[in-house]
Amino acid sequence: MQKVIVEAFGGVDRLHLAALPDPCPTGQQVLVRLTSIGMNHADLMARRGEYRLSSGEPPFTPGLEGGGYIEAVGPAVHDRHVGQRVLLSLDAPVHPEGRVGTYGTHYLTSAAQTVIAPDALPDQLLGALWLAYLTAWSCLIWRQGLRAGQVVLLPAASSSVAIAAAQIVRHHGGVAIGTTTSALKCEKLRAMGESAYAHIVCTSERQWRKQVKKLTDNGVVDVVFDPVGAGPLLQSAIHLLAQGGTIWIYGLLGKPDVLDVTPLIRKRAALRGWLLDELSALGSEPVQRAYQHVLDRFADGTYALPIAGIFPLRDVREAHARMEQGAHIGKFILVP
Ligand SMILES: NC(=O)c1ccc[n+]([C@@H]2O[C@H](COP(=O)([O-])OP(=O)(O)OC[C@H]3O[C@@H](n4cnc5c(N)ncnc54)[C@H](OP(=O)(O)O)[C@@H]3O)[C@@H](O)[C@H]2O)c1
Repeated sequence: MQKVIVEAFGGVDRLHLAALPDPCPTGQQVLVRLTSIGMNHADLMARRGEYRLSSGEPPFTPGLEGGGYIEAVGPAVHDRHVGQRVLLSLDAPVHPEGRVGTYGTHYLTSAAQTVIAPDALPDQLLGALWLAYLTAWSCLIWRQGLRAGQVVLLPAASSSVAIAAAQIVRHHGGVAIGTTTSALKCEKLRAMGESAYAHIVCTSERQWRKQVKKLTDNGVVDVVFDPVGAGPLLQSAIHLLAQGGTIWIYGLLGKPDVLDVTPLIRKRAALRGWLLDELSALGSEPVQRAYQHVLDRFADGTYALPIAGIFPLRDVREAHARMEQGAHIGKFILVP
């Protein structure tokens, strides 16, 4: 098998493809031949040494999700078989001794940490759904309890998580307003059926906050789902927030800055953090419900993930470089 190893924190030249002996599943384990590894912003941060909580110290293998075909099963596995298509569960990369990343041709895991894939899901998507859709669903539906008619502001509208969030908001009867950083992305997102935003606003325009106000009935948004978490964008979110509204911070894309949070007092509003780990920490019931929801909605065409690019695993450096440019819309996928 081959695995990508980050040998030291730094640029894309720190990513190396290493050949290792093929692992052999024992007991309840299965060996999955990966056909899809979803790339996440966290992978870039891990490589740069900005997410040590998750990556640990080098050497390590990046990657938080994956899926493919079962290539071999351990002797105690009775509910999975060779050739079955599976998605790695959310907690498959989490091991007691630290995360074991998915960037490789194969992944050894317990049978219980695989989810059987519906036939309708193409091979290249098997490892690319969970981070985007479960982060958005778990926060907005499971934790926030979004109600029909509520307006949700989604910064970083071109990112896979925000696009998933827009589809989820629309499906649950809400109104998704996306903000994006460039006029070009704005145009593309407006033209893209699967982007699911009711409205897209470009934050490089001076009057963008006024535009958001005009797009709502009463000039405010009920919920903000924000991966930037800093600076003028967060300040604007605070100003746009409705009485009793909630801003969820789920990423750290922005640079920390001084903010005036006093409007939150008058609005009795909340600024809260969101980490997907909270869903898995609660045990299997909500997680299984979340998996089923996402797979059902993919099967009936309600959700559709826009693919920004597909790279062979050997081109992982180029894939990281492209994602780092930030000109993409949707998800990058590595295909081993
Ligand atoms: N909390 C959790 O559990 C969790 C789970 C998964 C992902 N995440 C977070 O979700 C975010 C998106 O992940 P992804 O993999 O979909 O990312 P991605 O594809 O790399 O998207 C990043 C996008 O964010 C926007 N952006 C970047 N820097 C920005 C800045 N300084 N100010 C404003 N906007 C900026 C840009 O979109 P526009 O040009 O459209 O604005 C950029 O294209 C990341 O922050 C990631 O860490 C969190």
